[in-house]
Amino acid sequence: MKEQLDLLQQKALSEIEDTHSVKELQQLNVTYLGRKGSLTNVLRGMGQLSKEERPVIGQLANQVRAAIEKAMEVKQATLEQIELEKQLEKETIDITLPGRPVNIGGAHILTSIIEEIEDIFIGLGYEVREGPEVETDYFNFEALNLPKGHPARDMQDTFYITNELLMRTHTSPVQARTMQALEGNRPVRMICPGKVYRRDNDDATHSHQFTQIEGLYVDKNVRMSDLKGTLNTFAKKIFGEEREIRLRPSFFPFTEPSVEMDISCKVCSGQGCSVCKKTGWIEILGAGMVHPKVLTMAGYDPDVYTGFAFGMGPDRIAMLKYGIDDIRHFYKNDIRFLKQFHNA
Ligand code: DAH
Repeated sequence: MKEQLDLLQQKALSEIEDTHSVKELQQLNVTYLGRKGSLTNVLRGMGQLSKEERPVIGQLANQVRAAIEKAMEVKQATLEQIELEKQLEKETIDITLPGRPVNIGGAHILTSIIEEIEDIFIGLGYEVREGPEVETDYFNFEALNLPKGHPARDMQDTFYITNELLMRTHTSPVQARTMQALEGNRPVRMICPGKVYRRDNDDATHSHQFTQIEGLYVDKNVRMSDLKGTLNTFAKKIFGEEREIRLRPSFFPFTEPSVEMDISCKVCSGQGCSVCKKTGWIEILGAGMVHPKVLTMAGYDPDVYTGFAFGMGPDRIAMLKYGIDDIRHFYKNDIRFLKQFHNA
């Protein structure tokens, strides 16, 4: 039995020495020292020993157990150390690697230009208002003196949702909405930026969805010269002090008289080139004195109040200001295009 125990110890110690993982070691623990393990197995034969032999073998068995446990402890510590080192090696941070670039976003060019225009008008005492993109036929047309049957209501031009609901074709309905909200007895000085929709086929200068900014100033004694002064200030602030403006007679159902404003061409300084189609001037916006019918419908007495209104397209303004040749660039979300304007 003594030989059996010696043999067992030898075998256990050499197997412990050969293990490569903590898991294998745990397995050996079960194999040799467990309740059904080799040592227990050997000790089952104790019953056949003489009285004198029993304590000797018992003591030896304890020594064998202690030796195996000790060897396992030492091996476990070694294995754990090796595993820790391996892990540390794997997780080392290579501080010489180049960093991953962090992409920083920025405002969309149209957002920037709208904010720039807002700032100019806020400086002139205007407030910024909003209106719904899904609009009623009444506010989009009727309240702006575009009665039923007017060509602008054509199915060709307007996205209708129902007979009475449509995607607004311009920001002008916010004129009537604002005046109604102020109940005909307070001055109005507001601009309204927003998206508008038309049934256009998209090309370099047309988009079925684009942006507009509406302006409205209603008070006692508002005159055409106030409109001209305001637009002149605006044009110089946005395009540069050296730019000239001119007003041309035009027609809009909601203003009378109506004008279109041109600015002198920056490319040729008014000499005539391909950008301004040889005229020296570039059309920027429509404007005019608010039609008495529009004032009346919105609850303002045209004998007491007068006003002017204007509407412009930030898309077009951004195109002219930055030399962008295709309106579709604004809506394609190509980051290579957009990021050129992040500091604009
Ligand atoms: N609503 C017009 C359009 O979409 C633009 C416009 C012209 C607005 C004259 C105005 C204005 O307020 O007075 O073409």
